[in-house]
Amino acid sequence: MPEKTFKRHTITSALPYANGPIHIGHLAGVYVPADIYVRYLRSKKEDVAFICGSDEHGVPITIRAKKENVTPQEIADKYNQMIKESFEKFGISFDIYSRTTSKTHYKTASDFFTKLYNNKVFREILSEQYYDEEARTFLADRYIKGTCPKCGYQEAYGDQCENCGSTLSPSELINPNSMLSGSKPVLKETKHWYLPLDEYEDWLRKWILEDHKEWKSNVYGQCRSWIDQGLQPRAVTRDLDWGVPVPLEEAEGKVLYVWFDAPIGYISATIDWANENGKDWKDYWQSEDTRLVHFIGKDNIVFHCIIFPTMLKTHGEFIVPDNVPANEFLNLEGNKISTSRNWAVWLHEFLDEMPGKEDVLRYTLTSNAPETKDNDFTWKDFQAKNNNELVAILGNFINRAVVLTHKYFDGKIPERGDLLEIDEKLIAQLKETPVNVSNSLDKFKFREALSHFIDLARTGNKYLADNEPWKLIKTDEKRVGTILNLSLQVAANLSSLSEIFLPFTAKKISHILNFNNATWSSIGDHELLSESHKIEQPELLFAKIEDDVIEAQVQKLLDTRKLNEKDTKKESINMSPAKELCTFDEFMKMDMRIVEILEAEKVEKSNKLLKLKVDTGLDQRTVVSGIAKYFSPEEVVGKKVTMLVNLAPRKIMGIESQGMILLAEDPDGKLVFITPEESLTNGSTIS
Ligand code: 2FM
Ligand code: ZN
Repeated sequence: MPEKTFKRHTITSALPYANGPIHIGHLAGVYVPADIYVRYLRSKKEDVAFICGSDEHGVPITIRAKKENVTPQEIADKYNQMIKESFEKFGISFDIYSRTTSKTHYKTASDFFTKLYNNKVFREILSEQYYDEEARTFLADRYIKGTCPKCGYQEAYGDQCENCGSTLSPSELINPNSMLSGSKPVLKETKHWYLPLDEYEDWLRKWILEDHKEWKSNVYGQCRSWIDQGLQPRAVTRDLDWGVPVPLEEAEGKVLYVWFDAPIGYISATIDWANENGKDWKDYWQSEDTRLVHFIGKDNIVFHCIIFPTMLKTHGEFIVPDNVPANEFLNLEGNKISTSRNWAVWLHEFLDEMPGKEDVLRYTLTSNAPETKDNDFTWKDFQAKNNNELVAILGNFINRAVVLTHKYFDGKIPERGDLLEIDEKLIAQLKETPVNVSNSLDKFKFREALSHFIDLARTGNKYLADNEPWKLIKTDEKRVGTILNLSLQVAANLSSLSEIFLPFTAKKISHILNFNNATWSSIGDHELLSESHKIEQPELLFAKIEDDVIEAQVQKLLDTRKLNEKDTKKESINMSPAKELCTFDEFMKMDMRIVEILEAEKVEKSNKLLKLKVDTGLDQRTVVSGIAKYFSPEEVVGKKVTMLVNLAPRKIMGIESQGMILLAEDPDGKLVFITPEESLTNGSTIS
């Protein structure tokens, strides 16, 4: 099938939540690749709208506001401003950075809901949800805390246990408590509007699994797994007072679910951008010859590949995304980036502490992008990429070519004489580079694209070193002219390509060469600079980063780790207050026994759970236990441990778990099995 050609491109990048600053994980996963892609399209003179903005609704913003005793709008204002500013300073070239509390957005989101409502898309479902009688409000899942039914952690939220990672629903929590008033919430009936994803399963299956086999394998695989598991209707409204009000009379006090309104934010932002720039927003969202691409992190895949496309489809007037090149996650110095634990390199701090190093960060994040698997950012690698590649290869090459041209030819591009094989080889690589970069970028392989770019600089550097013009000048000035002419042509190409990968550097090289960077159709040309064109004096492109600078950043992280460890101790000491009294009879109901673990394996798609086969003395059965982070399957096989054998069976990640392995946890969060001092027969009882 011939590839479809598009007239224009709508490129979106995930709208960051306005409740915290941007960190390098966001940059590597979403904003740097999106920016490279858009700069590439612009270089190709494509018609493109690059859309972003703040995602300002959702419960976490309300929780933060409550904690800080301010309004959610104040929180959103603060972070919207901060994020917008740091993106600008970092050179992310959005056409618009909007926000989901804008007037346009409220209208667009509201109209979108109404259209789906009028199209009779929604299913209206009554369900029982927790209600805080003291605060007189329904409780969002995050506003309910209780004991996790899976691991016993007492501070689990209604949607997730942060201890064992299980996804929960509030009704599963033991002893639920309202975080608003501390009271015990009651179940109360409420009505919500659901997007019946189950009805669109066939369409999604064909649209993604058959028609978009070219999607990145991590994205395609996640979609397949969602679809194969069977899709469920999803509520798109919430009982909450922060968000876009549901535009129905009977829905007073209810708002659109943040994940319903946020992606519509892309549309609202486009509307504002189009109005300000004399464009028609509909061209960018409702025209079949527009290519819609969403740049996101892997945690957003279901929303952008399944839910939002279903919304667009059921609306009836919109195109659906042509690609969703989601990335995996970036870790920091071997640990998951965590906002709450301050384990991150924050963009605004980076910009303050390392002025002028924007492109070094762009380069490091791109060359190490988590495209197919999670990757790690280390400060040592940042230093190495700067010193060994940007300084030693790119900077050195441009500098040498420019300095020598000033020294031997008075800063004028020298004439080119006859070409030798070594020159032809350089020209051939120069010609191939944009083809290779283009092939990689078209497949969203940003690391590969960047490697073609730096390879050209590497070749240029080697070309100068092999030809040694500083020696030749004594005997063959004409030949030196050819060498420097070609070197400067390569430099002009690198400058033009830098527009895509390293925009700050592109400006500098273009200034040094006194040349307007070329657009895509001319990149690869070895006659970008005409003979006798005058270039400017060299300036420093990249400076070596010394060890002490890196050590200071590493120390900052070590200090954070120390603080975290202290906090964890405090938290865990406070974490387990004495439980309520239980009666002797209640205790006697529990059938605890010594069991032997016969087999163990990791549960697919979970880094927390192990599936165990145990011998209880009564039978052999399966138990799912949240210990994968602490024990490998190999080290638990053969262990005699304590188990609650008469816990009612529960399904965990689709596996029926028939009991619970008991563990002891010390105040530092260390988990150990409860093992008999001497080996006992399997099934020995505990009382
Ligand atoms: O995960 C997040 O940070 C979300 N705020 C992304 C929203 S993307 C879009 F749908 F708005
Ligand atoms: Zn748990």
